[in-house]
Amino acid sequence: MALILGIESSCDETAVAVIDGAGATLAARIVAQRIASQDDAHRPYGGVVPEIAARAHAETLAPMVGAVLADAGLSLADMDAIAATAGPGLIGGVMVGLVTGKALAMAADKPLIAVNHLEGHALSARLADPALRYPYLLLLASGGHCQILEVCGLGQYRRLATTIDDALGEAFDKTAKILGLGFPGGPAVERLARSGDPRAVPLPRPLMGSPEPHFSFAGLKSAVMRAKQAGIHVDADIAAAFQQAAIDCVIDRTRRALAASGPVTALVVAGGVAANGALRSALAALAEECGLTLVAPPPALCTDNAAMIGWAGAERFAAGLTDSLDALARPRWPLDPDAEPVRGAGVKA
Ligand code: KG4
Ligand code: ZN
Repeated sequence: MALILGIESSCDETAVAVIDGAGATLAARIVAQRIASQDDAHRPYGGVVPEIAARAHAETLAPMVGAVLADAGLSLADMDAIAATAGPGLIGGVMVGLVTGKALAMAADKPLIAVNHLEGHALSARLADPALRYPYLLLLASGGHCQILEVCGLGQYRRLATTIDDALGEAFDKTAKILGLGFPGGPAVERLARSGDPRAVPLPRPLMGSPEPHFSFAGLKSAVMRAKQAGIHVDADIAAAFQQAAIDCVIDRTRRALAASGPVTALVVAGGVAANGALRSALAALAEECGLTLVAPPPALCTDNAAMIGWAGAERFAAGLTDSLDALARPRWPLDPDAEPVRGAGVKA
């Protein structure tokens, strides 16, 4: 048994988990976990307010550690290591989680593992599916990131594509805002899209067909805004058309990335947007077309959680990779530091 305490606080979920790195199944691996969403605190502002997020993490985290250990019937002394998200993310929240992890590691004399939040998402598929082997092609789509990576091994990432403007989750959230669906937006857009006709509203598919597999969603978001302002469309049709256009882009870009990558064992999707059922179905069809299987963690492990942080910690612990107590909290922390900046990146429509 290798027991890891995982801590996540990089955005607006406060989460703690106890992971058994030697568990043979997903159920055996997650010994206990809790997640506290801050949705109610941020809803009045229509988005995550960093200061409010950091304060909420500070209030919630320490009692949650005690509660999760109690759920597991274990104590801090039973843990083999403490794994905390050290970035990338909203720096106030990251600091709360990392400092808490350091304090626990110091108090209990356990090693600290400073986990990259994106590595947590990247390895969540290996937590969920014990049969998944490296290397695999990963579509990582969350509120802050939209990338395609070749995951060659633990800590070995080759970025094949990224977004030149908005992340996919951001595009879902902005569409929700335009349609007055509130916060958080992704699940609300998906729900409304079910009753709409995607062909009723013509929307662009930015970068579709372009040779490099990069993404762009800013122009799509602007087109959604114009469609809404035109005042002639039903909101459900706009939601359905947006979701279809976004998925068409993702499938085209992922197909191109598969052609550009080395041999892979599977197509994997992770990150908050991977909770979207329509996207999962479209990716499953693409995987089948390419003779691969799609590995998608259960939706609750796609959105931010501490089980994926504890699992990344377990993989690192097994490989002998621990960190010193002066590990830094990092607002930015790319998985592939060697990836070239993309031409046109940062230009928002
Ligand atoms: O990974 P995550 O929980 O947090 C970040 O690290 O960003 O991702 C959150 C993002 C949000 O933009 C949210 O709207 C989106 O994932 N999301 C969805 C769905 N569930 C969450 N987007 C589309 N459909 C969903 N069902
Ligand atoms: Zn995330």
